Amino acid sequence: MNIASLILAAGKGTRMKSKLPKVLHKVGGKAMVERVLETVQSLGTVRDVAIVGFGGDEVEAYLEGRAEFVRQEEQKGTGHAVKMAQPVLGRFDGTILLVCGDTPLVTKESLEALLQEHAQSGAAATILTAYMPDPTGYGRIIRNSDGHVVRIVEQKDGNPEELSVCEVNTGMYAFDSQKLWPCLDELSDDNAQGELYITDVVSILVNGDEKVSAYMTEDFEESLGVNSRLQLAEAEAILRRRKNVELMNAGVTIIDPNTTYVAPEVQVGTDVILYPGTILEGNTVIGEGSEIGPHTRLTNVIVGNHSMLHFTYAHDCEVKDHVDVGPYVHLRPNAVIHDHVHIGNFVEVKNSQVGAGTKFPHLSYIGDSDVGAGVNIGCGTITVNYDGKLKHRTTIGDGAFVGCNSNLVAPVTIGKEAYVGAGSTITKDVPERALAVGRSKQIIKENWVSDDTFKKK
Ligand code: UD1
Ligand code: CA
Repeated sequence: MNIASLILAAGKGTRMKSKLPKVLHKVGGKAMVERVLETVQSLGTVRDVAIVGFGGDEVEAYLEGRAEFVRQEEQKGTGHAVKMAQPVLGRFDGTILLVCGDTPLVTKESLEALLQEHAQSGAAATILTAYMPDPTGYGRIIRNSDGHVVRIVEQKDGNPEELSVCEVNTGMYAFDSQKLWPCLDELSDDNAQGELYITDVVSILVNGDEKVSAYMTEDFEESLGVNSRLQLAEAEAILRRRKNVELMNAGVTIIDPNTTYVAPEVQVGTDVILYPGTILEGNTVIGEGSEIGPHTRLTNVIVGNHSMLHFTYAHDCEVKDHVDVGPYVHLRPNAVIHDHVHIGNFVEVKNSQVGAGTKFPHLSYIGDSDVGAGVNIGCGTITVNYDGKLKHRTTIGDGAFVGCNSNLVAPVTIGKEAYVGAGSTITKDVPERALAVGRSKQIIKENWVSDDTFKKK
């Protein structure tokens, strides 16, 4: 099937009370319109056109290179928005899949079913509908006595009988492109909102003896249209529950699903345990048998197998197998933590390679460093990587031992199996197997405390 998607994303989203265009608000860590775009693209669309208007520059910048854009300068309704696309899709010969940028939960499966129904029925238009226990706010699907769809009535225009209908318009439709465009010229703004409604195309087609079909989704939650912050939170909760169920069905233990937030794109291996307060975002991947949390946030982090990260914030970095991290650890971009590393409390690692079996047990800052395998970094050690203008690297060879409270002033190299005495400030390279001590010598003043001093206390 030749399908072009048309995504309505020009509305201001007045009810959001936001400076940000509504469709750029995020659910599951991604802008709503991006979720919709990715879902339609997964169907193999040949073109994707987004109608943008309010905050159009922002929306275009966000989706740059992934869709074509059409401007709707004034938001005169969904029908007017579709009309704006006529110059670019007017000659398109195929099916137009019309979706809204504010329905981020719709699944590929439902849109596929919609397109299949459209193809099989040979209808001029097919509507994706849903049965909503509480249909308030949605357009209602009005059928005749034979059960055929004849009209869609908006909440603000409906009479009590029409408003008692629980089958709603999800705002997603398949149109035969050539039959869609002529209808747009017949739209009128003679309605409660003074807008051109795309939904009126249904009655225009029916009155012109064209067939309009409908496909009802089984899961009404996925057609949730986000118009307010409350609905945004509802969408977030649905997405989170969906993901948690998927993970538990795939062999992941989630101690408390109510406090575990896993973005849809995240991958989690079997026998992973997620403790309460765990947030997994972006392109995070967790290997088998790892334990995450409690109170851990991982954004774009690759974790290997059988690693433990507790009370940790990590982003844009990698932790390999059998690593043990936390509590109170910050792993920053481009940290690569190799197998069997131990990172204990109050440690920050940034832009560094940390070799297998190395230990940073407590209170260290390791930045812009290449740390070998089997290194022991004493409590309170700091890589002094910044001279006020430039960042410099620290290299620590395999098996080196750095005593507590040392400053390694970069650029500097500690050789393999070398020792640094506790409390040293190291400014020169330390050769392999050498001992470097860079601190003032201890002096002893015998009998420095006189009897008088002692008595005063
Ligand atoms: C619309 C439908 C309603 C359906 C509901 C599903 C109409 C008239 N009504 O109502 O039947 O049940 O969606 O969620 O279509 N937009 C533009 N330009 C405009 C106006 C809107 O691009 O001039 C975009 C918005 O950004 C939004 C989408 O169209 O992404 C839907 O607009 P919205 O105002 O949210 O329509 P609803 O009142 O929810
Ligand atoms: Ca809406």
